[in-house]
Amino acid sequence: MPHPLEQLRDEALRQIESATDEQALETTRVKYLGRSGSISSWGEKMKALAKEEKPVVGKLLNEVRNAVTAAIESHNAQFHLQKESGALAKIDISLPGTPHEIGSLHPLHQMHERGIQIFRRMGFALAEGPDVETEWYCFDALNTPPDHPARNEQDTFYLSDGRLLRTHTSTVQIRAMESAPPPLRVIASGAAYRRDEVDATHSAQFHQIEGLYVDENVSVADLKGELEFFMRELFGPGTDVQFRPHYFPFTEPSLEVYVRSKALKRGEQWIEVAGCGMVHPAVFEAVNKARDDKAYDPEKWSGYAFGLGMDRLAMILFDIPDIRLFAQNDLRFLRQFA
Ligand code: PHE
Repeated sequence: MPHPLEQLRDEALRQIESATDEQALETTRVKYLGRSGSISSWGEKMKALAKEEKPVVGKLLNEVRNAVTAAIESHNAQFHLQKESGALAKIDISLPGTPHEIGSLHPLHQMHERGIQIFRRMGFALAEGPDVETEWYCFDALNTPPDHPARNEQDTFYLSDGRLLRTHTSTVQIRAMESAPPPLRVIASGAAYRRDEVDATHSAQFHQIEGLYVDENVSVADLKGELEFFMRELFGPGTDVQFRPHYFPFTEPSLEVYVRSKALKRGEQWIEVAGCGMVHPAVFEAVNKARDDKAYDPEKWSGYAFGLGMDRLAMILFDIPDIRLFAQNDLRFLRQFA
């Protein structure tokens, strides 16, 4: 005569065997092994047994519980496997896959990277500043008087709190000098904004690489030599570079940079690509005031600064006829630079 626990075990195993889905299996588990399941309740019954019977029945209860638990687990695993292979069988592996398009860097981004790489070799470190700026960084510290046209609301994007979208990256000159004493050799790359009438060569958002070098005895010769070197690295050794007198409030003297290269499609034409000049003493004084020291003593230090028009440079280098193409997101255009 088998023990009632053994009978319960055999009964449970039969039910597990005949369960046709996961839910039937779960019902069986609860029936026998749940908190008040018929096997579990033997734990309670044990208390009433004679002292010498307890270890025997206790051992049996453990064995029965383990056997039933193992049977449920293995049956469950079987259901799982069936489900998975069923799902796999529905997949047609002969179908062509979904191709993922591989992206590429935007031509303007590529242009910035080329520029930054050349300047890095020349010893410039990368500096940064925000696109949303205060008038101090954009104008006042750069010796730009209140009546200067760049400050006109018609030409500039002001926010209601008085800040503005920077009209040039020269803001970073001030930020760099405020945060470190001379000598200093930095570039900053980023966007600038002006309320320009949008056409083939003007955009409300354009891009610049700003440069600033401050040291003892920096001269216009250094400025010209380094920008000539840069342009020849970029456009090839046959590139002509021309400097024409200009005016910027924050440099004195100020110059505009033009390039011409036979290697380029527009070969014979001089194209304006940058503004530059020797840092104005008033800019150093503004920085000193903000720093509350005399670190940028204009008697001791001199420097040059430049701002390169990156959209213009990219248009020349890649022979792009219209600046608006940069922002239109037309894949036919962008793919040519992949
Ligand atoms: N900030 C000037 C511009 O955007 C360019 C410039 C930079 C000129 C540095 C001189 C020195 O036109």
